[in-house]
Amino acid sequence: MSEEDVQLEARLEEQAVFEPPESFVEQANISDEGIYDEFEENWPACWEQAADLLDWEDSYDQVLDDSNPPFYEWFTGGSLNASANCVDRHLDERGDEAAIEWVGEPVEEDNVTYTYEELHREVNEFAAALREQGVGEDDVVTMYMPMIPQLPIAMLACARIGAPHSVVFAGFSADALATRMNAADSEYLVTCDGYYRRGDPLDHLEKANEGLEGVDHEVQTVAVAERLLDGDGFDHDYADNQVAFDELSAAHEGESVEPVSRDAEDMLFLMYTSGTTGEPKGVKHTTGGYLSYAAWTSQAVLDIKPDDTYFCSADIGWITGHSYIIYGPLALGTTTMMYEGTPDYPDKDRLWQIIEDYEATQLYTAPTAIRAFMKWGEEYPDSHDLSSLRLLGTVGEPINPRAWKWYYKHIGDESCPVVDTWWQTETGGMMLTTLPGVGDMKPGSAGPPLPGLSADIVDVSGSPVEAGKAGYLVVNKPWPGMLRTLYKNDERFIDEYWREYSDIDSDDPEDWVYFPEDGAKIDQDGYITVLGRVDDVLNVSGHRLGTMEIESAIVGVEGVAEAAVVGGNHEIKGEAVYAYVITEDGADEDEELRERIIEAVEDAIGPIARPEQVIFTPELPKTRSGKIMRRLLEDIANGEELGDTSTLRNPDVVSDIATKVRGD
Ligand code: WT7
Repeated sequence: MSEEDVQLEARLEEQAVFEPPESFVEQANISDEGIYDEFEENWPACWEQAADLLDWEDSYDQVLDDSNPPFYEWFTGGSLNASANCVDRHLDERGDEAAIEWVGEPVEEDNVTYTYEELHREVNEFAAALREQGVGEDDVVTMYMPMIPQLPIAMLACARIGAPHSVVFAGFSADALATRMNAADSEYLVTCDGYYRRGDPLDHLEKANEGLEGVDHEVQTVAVAERLLDGDGFDHDYADNQVAFDELSAAHEGESVEPVSRDAEDMLFLMYTSGTTGEPKGVKHTTGGYLSYAAWTSQAVLDIKPDDTYFCSADIGWITGHSYIIYGPLALGTTTMMYEGTPDYPDKDRLWQIIEDYEATQLYTAPTAIRAFMKWGEEYPDSHDLSSLRLLGTVGEPINPRAWKWYYKHIGDESCPVVDTWWQTETGGMMLTTLPGVGDMKPGSAGPPLPGLSADIVDVSGSPVEAGKAGYLVVNKPWPGMLRTLYKNDERFIDEYWREYSDIDSDDPEDWVYFPEDGAKIDQDGYITVLGRVDDVLNVSGHRLGTMEIESAIVGVEGVAEAAVVGGNHEIKGEAVYAYVITEDGADEDEELRERIIEAVEDAIGPIARPEQVIFTPELPKTRSGKIMRRLLEDIANGEELGDTSTLRNPDVVSDIATKVRGD
């Protein structure tokens, strides 16, 4: 490092507050801080600004119907179609402009640009095909696909005919697919033959087929997108209900399908996410509220403009990809990038190469990725021209100030604002973050609630805690992008998100408070730092995993008597899975069993849930009432001082396990 660099590093390290760069503010979609007061004074009518970003077939009568909390309804009486809003309405002005820039794994020069015109054609053909296969309005179509263009095409085709989609992350296991198809009674699946990972073809259809065996009802159609190049394919005979995606579309070449008029409150999609219990939660999002909110936050926070080439490196199999690769950006008529591969193949500069090649204007990624980039070294970004970037964003987990500053300096060249956006699958879109052209940035803190939102940090009784003290994050007012319920389970919806801090017998919306199950603290300026989940959910590389789901996979393994799963700190992943296991025969080491345990977790959930460590122990630390003390197991995993163990039924067990894990 040069002397100058050293000084710069030292300055950055000390700096706690960063002003939005002047060059950014000058051109920002929002640069007037008056928007906060304006939204507050004018609530809930302020949200018309979001609805106005869309084309409505019938305009709505009421912005918010809060007569039956927590079953809020937004833009009631309005009707619209999401696919028409994301595709058709841009045709006149932007038909020849790129809607999606698809960048494939570099197995061949096979990147594809889809103009709005081309996307429109593909979406219509596949919509016609789905309809011919019998898909009707409100039939749930499951998608189990990696980052290939047929995924957004299928999603938008579903939206066009009013069939909600349920996208299952391609890295999830066959079992996870079956569970989700069963929970949604989904009779249609769109999947693919395979895809490439680090240059090697991967058999995806085998996993899909295995999942289909676990589906407890008849499956009408399985559409198979054929991604693998000739010669790379795996041998699969298609079953009677299986047909190639392209063949389906080809049979409807040039056809157009009138977008179905959907009520604002009609379901646009379902997305399953992990909760405290083993059963995944089917989060229901609607057409009017969700889409307006995705579009508005894309404009306000990501500063998206039609001429941008916007790059979000998330996977569409998660909510980030739904809201901020597909729905938000396409609703605004911009160019959205879609990258199939990993950031380190063929080399660790892959993302920087893509940004340079496509002159990307925004990058939205996860702290876990930033920590990996840091570790790989700044020579990778430094060897590319990243000057097209105007804004950087992060999402998925807390970002440590060091990683924030590295991102700000080495990717943004200190001239791009960084938005640290806190939100959830359930919220549909961003909730806490600075507005990039308005608010100062404080590395490590997401920022204040967006205009029109109201959040607090409270103690167990629901009273606000002092600035600087840790408490629970709560959201006090509804917002358009909020989940409407858990699919076919209103009771669980209330239990999971509302019961804790609401007066659930009241009809007064003031008495209803949303609880996201995150711990947080707030500073004097109202900036919120989110500390992490307070339920039994882990955040591994920005992905949400339920400890119960992992535990139930482990106790299903022959030879296992009991298991407890907790999160331990991990340099890159944020959190990693630690599994404590009691064996039936009391063995304190069993390599063969360890392998079977790891395999069982991968089979039940997927490789992302793979335990970092499996620790065999003769006992688990339990309170006198028999509750496992997870906090102690976390401390052990993190190599921390062990707190008070005197209330345990079996205090010695803790030091025994600790000795084993640390090897001391
Ligand atoms: C959980 C939601 C939001 C899309 C991706 C994850 C954590 C998310 C942040 C952030 C600190 C964050 C929370 C939240 N989280 N963003 N900027 N700072 N924590 O969606 O899978 O529904 O997970 O991710 O714990 O509750 P998800």
